[in-house]
Amino acid sequence: MIGVRRQTQIYVSGVSGRRPLIPFDADRLEAAAERRMRPAAFAYVAAGAGNERTMAANRAAFDRWRIVPRMLRDVEHRDTSIELFGQRLPSPFLLAPVGVLELAHPDADCAVARAARDTGTGMVFSTQASRPMEGVSRILADTPHWFQLYWSRFDALVESLASRAERCGCTAIVITVDTTMLGWRSRDLEGAFLPFLHGKGLAQYTSDPVFKALIAEAPLAPPAQQPRPTLATLRTLIELTRAYPDGFWRTLVSGRGRAAAQRFSEIYSRPSLTWETLAFLRERTDLPIVLKGILHPDDAARAVAEGIDAVIVSNHGGRQVDGSIATLEALPAVVEAVDGRIPVLLDSGVRGGADIFKALALGARAVLIGRPYVYALAVAGRAGVRELLLNLAADFELTMGLAGCRSVAEIGSEALVPAPALPEMPSISAPRSL
Ligand code: FNR
Ligand code: LAC
Repeated sequence: MIGVRRQTQIYVSGVSGRRPLIPFDADRLEAAAERRMRPAAFAYVAAGAGNERTMAANRAAFDRWRIVPRMLRDVEHRDTSIELFGQRLPSPFLLAPVGVLELAHPDADCAVARAARDTGTGMVFSTQASRPMEGVSRILADTPHWFQLYWSRFDALVESLASRAERCGCTAIVITVDTTMLGWRSRDLEGAFLPFLHGKGLAQYTSDPVFKALIAEAPLAPPAQQPRPTLATLRTLIELTRAYPDGFWRTLVSGRGRAAAQRFSEIYSRPSLTWETLAFLRERTDLPIVLKGILHPDDAARAVAEGIDAVIVSNHGGRQVDGSIATLEALPAVVEAVDGRIPVLLDSGVRGGADIFKALALGARAVLIGRPYVYALAVAGRAGVRELLLNLAADFELTMGLAGCRSVAEIGSEALVPAPALPEMPSISAPRSL
């Protein structure tokens, strides 16, 4: 039983003076990562859109439900495993697609993949990854992995990325539909930092034959504005040149480093995406197709009607629409609309075993873990992510058992009650007694 085993391991290590590598509390983990990361890199990960109210709402939504544990139900044997697209996962969570992991650690996606393999956790590769999918897939071997697709303006690139994913052993394609443009991210705008323009997070592109041909063939349009070159311009040019996998001097001469970043910005994603566009991919792959970013029940019902194989209720960790509905709030209506026909997953704000339990109780098949694993990566690399995943699995398993459930199938909405409403805020105009 993983929960008790993990506890024992930690306490017994403590006897010989060994302490866990990463903080267990989500806020302290974030703070520890902030101390390790460069400010602009940390800001990119931590940032939400606008005033970050959606990020806060995601967390608050979990606090609005309380678990009501049931007793004396013989929970000696507990099974936290679930099945998705014919593959078994030991716990009901996967690693969300997160781009630009090199901001957290030089081993980036490779370190995360090793931790995923160590623990059997499913991983979703990002289109904006820091390492090409083929190598990361080799690390994962039989551990389930999916590919997340940003639908580029170039269909040929979409086709190429999807077929590479299929060939390298990804078992599903996740189309992220909530980021056809980047949200208005105050922290990043304030720091005037977008990693892609520094050549970071472009590995899936610079390893792609269609993208490479696009750089080689089409001449670059002159940049809209030609600011006077500064020392920073030179630094960026060096970064871009280093990032391109062709050797520094060759890339410097060919100019492909800068061309890659510019071409990427031109074709990154497609705001004109519609339900009709999705047929293009359906015709080209037999892999299950998952839509990530669904919040409205009508969109969920449409996904089922269009032959989509699963949906992820997500608001991109509050990075897209500030003031949007929290994912846990959106979940029940989506689950109702889908009516058991396809799996419903959820992410955004999941920070511990109780959150996973609540999402499952409200009808999610599984959840995706986002920022916490990036922070664990920043603090302690592969070992940090491994610890985080082991801790989450243990925390969830103990929560499930202590709530009186032996398996995820036994977790239902009857295990939750709404938290009592908060007392009303005192009105500002109320007379003060002096
Ligand atoms: C993301 N997310 C994301 N999603 C996606 O589909 N493709 C991507 O490339 C990325 N990149 C990315 C980078 C960073 C730094 C973050 C924080 C997030 C969104 C991610 O998959 C997931 O939806 C959120 O992270 C969930 O929110 P929390 O739990 O991290 O708050
Ligand atoms: C992000 C995009 C790249 O959220 O998905 O950073």
